[in-house]
Amino acid sequence: MNLTSKETLDPHSLIEEIDRLKKEKDAIILAHNYQIPEVQDIADFIGDSLELARKAATLDNDVIVFCGVDFMAETAAILSPDKTVLLPAAEANCPMAEMITAGELKVLKERFPDAAVVCYVNTSAEVKAESDICCTSSNAVKVVESLDEDRIIFVPDRNLGAYVARFTSKEVLPWEGFCFVHDRMTTDDVKEARSLHPEAEVLVHPECRAEVIDLADGVYSTSGMIKRVCSSPGKEFIIGTEIGILHRMKKDCPEKICYPLSSQAICTTMKKTDLVKVHASLESLTPQIIVPEEIADRARKAITRMLEVR
Ligand code: 13P
Ligand code: SF4
Repeated sequence: MNLTSKETLDPHSLIEEIDRLKKEKDAIILAHNYQIPEVQDIADFIGDSLELARKAATLDNDVIVFCGVDFMAETAAILSPDKTVLLPAAEANCPMAEMITAGELKVLKERFPDAAVVCYVNTSAEVKAESDICCTSSNAVKVVESLDEDRIIFVPDRNLGAYVARFTSKEVLPWEGFCFVHDRMTTDDVKEARSLHPEAEVLVHPECRAEVIDLADGVYSTSGMIKRVCSSPGKEFIIGTEIGILHRMKKDCPEKICYPLSSQAICTTMKKTDLVKVHASLESLTPQIIVPEEIADRARKAITRMLEVR
């Protein structure tokens, strides 16, 4: 069957084909919480960046199909160098991860030789290779607190860096990167949402600006938000992150009502993966993510050091 005929397959047949190929190739499908509903629904495991990295480190399958963005698939490839890691949408990049290069980080390290380098997992493998340890939105404070150094170069997200600085006595030197989805959420968005839904709990991601975080009731990673919605005694929630997460909230806790803080909060690159691409990727075992060994070996140290922080 060629690609054109597959594109005309009805969704049910496409899903059956994906299932068949998964068995044939010994593949597992991992998906981030922001993926489109159809992709979340066929995934074997859905999570935030930390959960996905932990999962990728422990899999036995020959093939990992990563439905997310480039740095997530790269992290899986670094942790599982003997496996075939596929990113069905080759063009799915994270713009924030491109806001710092390894060369820029090297200059910073020369300027602050006594500082430890913490890189958000939303970075290239080359930047990870220049870092002492990685972090994600769910463990950034713990990671920074785990270090002996009192001065921390924190790249690339200035908002997450500023958020971490609230909880540590260490000096945090944030890079000026940001996420275009979270950085454009405003205090007016929060005030308007609160006036429309006065009973709702406001949950935001730490990639949001400090003034937005100040107005929130809670700050969580994507999976942290899902857990909070399910466990909170509250019934209504205003969700300050990418809107793809609402699908999982609806599935995991259907009795709760979740409103997006901003209906504009769409990560376009997270939406590039669809069932046709997942199917094509499984069939052809492309596009494959390959990280050069020398970079992967150094980046792996920063990632595994993070995974050891509990
Ligand atoms: P999480 O690790 O919280 O899922 O965040 C990933 C991300 O890219 C947020 O924009
Ligand atoms: Fe990157 Fe922001 Fe998209 Fe997350 S939401 S993948 S940080 S651009």
